[in-house]
Amino acid sequence: MDKILDFINVNRDHYVDQLKEYLAIPSISALPQHKEDVRRGAEWTADEMRRIGLQNVRVEETPGHPLVYGEWLGAAGAATILFYGHYDVQPVDPVDLWTSPPFEATVRDGEIYARGSADDKGQVFMHFKAVEAHIKQHGGLPVNMKFLIEGEEEVGSANLDAFVNAHRDLLAADVVVISDSPMFDRGIPSICYGLRGLAYYQIDLRGTKSDLHSGSFGGAVANPAMVLAQILAQMKDKSGRIKIAGFYDDVVELTAEERAEFAKLPFNERKYRQELGAPKLFGESGYTTLERIWGRPTFEVNGLLSGFTGDGAKTVIPALAMAKVSMRLVPNQDPKKIGDLFEAYMKKVAPKTVELTLTRMHGGKPWMTAFDNPFVQAAGRAIEKGFGQRPVFNREGGSIPVVATFQEVLGLPCVLFGVGLPDENAHAPDEKLDLGNFHNGIIASALLYQEVGALPRA
Ligand code: BES
Ligand code: MN
Ligand code: MN
Repeated sequence: MDKILDFINVNRDHYVDQLKEYLAIPSISALPQHKEDVRRGAEWTADEMRRIGLQNVRVEETPGHPLVYGEWLGAAGAATILFYGHYDVQPVDPVDLWTSPPFEATVRDGEIYARGSADDKGQVFMHFKAVEAHIKQHGGLPVNMKFLIEGEEEVGSANLDAFVNAHRDLLAADVVVISDSPMFDRGIPSICYGLRGLAYYQIDLRGTKSDLHSGSFGGAVANPAMVLAQILAQMKDKSGRIKIAGFYDDVVELTAEERAEFAKLPFNERKYRQELGAPKLFGESGYTTLERIWGRPTFEVNGLLSGFTGDGAKTVIPALAMAKVSMRLVPNQDPKKIGDLFEAYMKKVAPKTVELTLTRMHGGKPWMTAFDNPFVQAAGRAIEKGFGQRPVFNREGGSIPVVATFQEVLGLPCVLFGVGLPDENAHAPDEKLDLGNFHNGIIASALLYQEVGALPRA
């Protein structure tokens, strides 16, 4: 193992240069004009997987963006890790707010700034370097590994479930490893044992066939912007509880033990509020902030559009009002069932004065796992050695739709070991990855393969 760690230490700066190349590809899955860039992202991922010594590497077509598969299966008798990550990234708007261009990775104060640095190319690349160190120094890995790197995570992984279902044998493994989440805090590595799910909708309201002069017609018709605002404003009651009938029916309540564990974590609410720039925090009453983010569902408006929003004033009654909304879900809420409840609620509350259209967009199931399995313990040991600090166990508020599929379809436990940070600016301007965490993450990953390879097979 020493030879491997030496190799990683010697190549530390070199890795950053290589990562910059990966981060230069604008593989934005949401934007049609970047379709070819997304493909280049897949090709670069595949080429890198070949360079580090993985075998049977291929770019697999899907009805959407391609995914990349590769493997190394030479560790006879040892367990198999299925590693999952994504090479697609979020759009970069508003681009003016970036300190340096999003696809020209720039190092400042020990952090690398670029779209995809934390979410998720940087964290995928960390595992590539851990694999490379093993193969270059020892001619192989201490564990069998399969890599599945997709290009549609940021748009809801619409084609991945079908791929997993159709390739159960190809993807058969003992455990899934994912690095696509932040650690609890700077200096506090973590293993994540729960993710929220998601049900996302577009709401369109039409009041009239065209915009109207607000003097000639104001008072005669309902204003769809007003109607939409009223509906949204009434979605939660005063205590922050969502009013959709049946919404909480399947929610697994936080246990007393879990709440006690959350309360022990070094979370400073005041610092959190200040860093967010929020005058005051808000959420469902009866729960702490961590409980709200990790263990409670929420309804949020993601975007809102109606009428005249340019400079100056225009007296008009808009014909249309639109909102993008999403519900984060917790175990055992099902996105399809929640979607049906939401649709029924919207149809009930929308007045007859407007025409309502609901469009179901992406969805994903929530996920939670027991963390007393040997793989999680092995990851704990590897992280402790890599970071010099024992990891804490946390849940996260974000979603990775395929994790529940790995559990349900492949029957696999998942270990989520992320090296991002809460202030990594994922999906926002100035996304960044701490290079110390990146380096320690390569070491922890290399140690993780060693630890899992040494486990007795189930
Ligand atoms: N890496 C995130 C998921 C994540 C975020 C995990 C924060 C833990 C903490 C992932 O790339 C992501 O952004 N997922 C989307 C999923 C959606 C597009 C279906 C999300 O959570 O919004
Ligand atoms: Mn991600
Ligand atoms: Mn993301």
